[in-house]
Amino acid sequence: MTENTSTSQVDEIRAGYAFEGPSLEFGAAVVDGTAHPDATVRIPLSAMNRHGLVAGATGTGKTKTLQLMAEQLIAQGVPVFLADIKGDLSGMASPGEPNDKITSRSADVGLPWAATAYPVEFYALGGQGTGIPVRASVSTFGPTLLSKVLGLNETQESSLGLVFHYADTKGLWLDTVADLRAVVQFLTSDEGKADLKDFGGLSSATAGVILRELVNFSAQGADLFFGLPEFDTADLLRTAPDGRGIASMLELPGVQDRPQLFSTFLMWLLADLFHDLPEVGDLDKPKLVFFFDEAHLLFNGASKEFLDSIQQTVRLIRSKGVGVFFVTQSPKDVPADVLAQLGNRVQHALRAFTPDDAKALKAAVRTYPNTAYDLEELLTQLGTGEAIITVLSEKGAPTPVAWTRMRAPQSLMAPSPDALLASTVAASPIAPKYVTAVERESASEMLGKAEVARTEAEQAAVVEAENAKVREAAAAAAEKERLAAEKQAAKDAEVAARTRAAEERKQAAQPSMVEAVVKSSAFKSALR
Ligand SMILES: Nc1ncnc2c1ncn2[C@@H]1O[C@H](COP(=O)(O)OP(=O)(O)O)[C@@H](O)[C@H]1O
Ligand SMILES: [Mg+2]
Repeated sequence: MTENTSTSQVDEIRAGYAFEGPSLEFGAAVVDGTAHPDATVRIPLSAMNRHGLVAGATGTGKTKTLQLMAEQLIAQGVPVFLADIKGDLSGMASPGEPNDKITSRSADVGLPWAATAYPVEFYALGGQGTGIPVRASVSTFGPTLLSKVLGLNETQESSLGLVFHYADTKGLWLDTVADLRAVVQFLTSDEGKADLKDFGGLSSATAGVILRELVNFSAQGADLFFGLPEFDTADLLRTAPDGRGIASMLELPGVQDRPQLFSTFLMWLLADLFHDLPEVGDLDKPKLVFFFDEAHLLFNGASKEFLDSIQQTVRLIRSKGVGVFFVTQSPKDVPADVLAQLGNRVQHALRAFTPDDAKALKAAVRTYPNTAYDLEELLTQLGTGEAIITVLSEKGAPTPVAWTRMRAPQSLMAPSPDALLASTVAASPIAPKYVTAVERESASEMLGKAEVARTEAEQAAVVEAENAKVREAAAAAAEKERLAAEKQAAKDAEVAARTRAAEERKQAAQPSMVEAVVKSSAFKSALR
C-alpha cells in the first residue's frame, strides 16, 4: 500500500468512527501494521442493542474484549450480564495490576489506563459454587428449553409440550423435576389416560422415554437448578448506588459436564427478560447488555423449534432495550438467521489449519463490507488482543472495517481472590431472597397426595393380609403346641401316676426315714 492510500484509509476509519453521542472505545486502528492512536475505533452506546458477535480462536482475546466492553458499559450506567465460564471474568471486581505491557499498550492505542474495580454480583447456577443461587421453575423454563436439555427429538418435544399444557389447564404447579415426573407418571395411569383424551395422545412409549430422561436428569443433579425461589431476571437490570451499572456474572463449575444445561439456562434468562420487559424501541443506551459466552453450545444439536425461538427472541428483544453479544470461536458456530441479526462484529484471529477452517475463514470474510484490507490473510495473522471490527453507526449504517489494537481492561485480567467472591455474595442485598430453596404445594404433592393415599391403602391391605397370615400361622402353631402340651401332660400324668404308685408301693414296703431313724439303735441309745 502506498503512503497515500494508507493515509486515506486511516482518515476513512477516523471519520467512520467519529460518533456524536457516548460510545465505548475498543482501541486504535492499525493500518500497514502501525497503530494510529489518533484513529480510535469505537461503538456508539446506542448501537449496543443491535447485537453483536465476538469471535476468534482460543487465546486470541475474546474474553478481554468482553471485559473491556463490560467495563465501559458499567461506567456509563449500563448493567451487563456475563456468563463466566472459566471464572476469569471475576477479575472485574478487582482493580487491574499495572505492568509494562499494559503501559505500552495504553500508549500504543492512545487511551488512558487507570486500575479500576467494578461493581459485580456473583451468581452460581443452582447454587453450585460461590454465588447467589439461580434457579428456574420447570413451568417457566418450558417444554422447548427442557427438551433441548434432555436431548428429546421433535415427537418427544411435542409430547412434553402436551404434558405442560395439561398441567397448566389443571392448575398443577410444575416447580421441580419431580413435579414434572409426577404428572407424566399420572398421565400414563388409567385415571390419567382418561383425563388425557381431551388433550390428544401421549403414547406410553414416549412417556417412558421422557420419564427415563427426567430420572437421568435428576440423577445428574438437575434438581438443584429447578425449583423455587425462581430467579427474578429484573435483578439483572440493577445499578449500583454510585450510578454505575452492575455486572452480573453467572458461573457453573464443571460446565463441561453440563454444557447443554448451562447454555439453555442462559437462553431462559433471555427469554424471561424478553417476556417481562416492555417495548421501548431504540434507546440512547441499552437497559442491559447480555454477553453469551461459549455460544456454540447453545446451537449444537438444537431442534428447529429451539432455533426459531432463539432467532425470534434475539430479533425482538432489541426493541426492549437489551443487546445480546454472542461469543464463540468461529462465526460458523452461529446459524445464518441469527448471524444476520448481529450488527456489530469483533473478529479476533481465526485459525486456518484444515480445509474446513479455510472454508469458514472465506465465509467469515464474505460477511464483511468491502475494505482495503486483505481480510483473508489478515484474519489468520492478527496479534493477540487485536481484532477486525465493524459496527453500526448511530444512523445504523456499517462502519468501515478497522483492524484494531484493543485497549487493555482496567480491572484484573485474572480471577478475583475467592475471599472477595465470598464477601461480595455475603454482602449482596438480593442474596437473602434466593439463598434458601422453598417448596410449595406443587404437582408432585397434589398428585402425590392422591398417590400416597392410594398407596397407603394398598399397603395397609397388604400388611393386613400379611398380618392375618401371621395370625393364622400363630394360631395353628399355638393349637399344635396346645395339643402337644396336652399329650405331654397326659403322658406326664401317666408317668406321674405310675411313679406315684411305684412310690406308694415302695413306701408301703419300706419304713419311712423317720421311722427308720427312730427305730435305729443309735437314736434309741441317744434318747437314753
Ligand atoms: N485487550 C487486551 N489487552 C491486553 N492483553 C490482552 C488483551 N486481549 C488479550 N490479551 C492477552 O491475551 C490473553 C488471552 O486473552 P483471552 O481474552 O483470555 O483469550 P480468549 O478468551 O480468546 O481465549 C490474555 O490473558 C492477555 O494476556
Ligand atoms: Mg475466553
